[in-house]
Amino acid sequence: MRAALLIVLGLAIGIIGTVFTMRALDERNPLPHAVMVTMGFHRHQLQEALKGQHCDATANLAQLQHMQMIAGDIPAAFLDAPQQFQDLASHLRSALQTAAQSAPADCPAMTAALKPVDGVCKECHQQFR
Ligand code: HEC
Repeated sequence: MRAALLIVLGLAIGIIGTVFTMRALDERNPLPHAVMVTMGFHRHQLQEALKGQHCDATANLAQLQHMQMIAGDIPAAFLDAPQQFQDLASHLRSALQTAAQSAPADCPAMTAALKPVDGVCKECHQQFR
């Protein structure tokens, strides 16, 4: 009986220890995750605008420019990433630059401008996420 209790106790301590270790590892560098969460936030804002058919040219350009700036942080945030990853990050920067320069004035223009951008997000996520 006592042995069984000790085994259970040992397992519990082990599990708790593992959870804490994993959290600590996760927190070691929160930047890559934070960069992506922020990127996702701005993409989501645009999605909401599209969904509500409320595509204000100035507001949408601001979102695209935010995404452009955040994309500029990807290489520094994902320092040890392989070359292929850095190439995709660079594709994302040019796709966002093109999108911002096209200054989409309405929802159909915004949808068209986001298409190549979303393509790069998806490509990198499929390979590296
Ligand atoms: C060069 C590669 C790359 C590109 C391009 C990229 N991502 Fe990511 N993304 C990642 C990686 C790697 C992760 C997982 C990182 C993590 O969670 O620590 C990720 C995770 C995410 C997440 C999940 C965050 C969470 O809550 O777990 C979101 C949202 C996201 N990306 C949005 C975007 C959007 C939107 C774009 C395009 C505008 C984009 N990403 C482009 C590599 C990329």
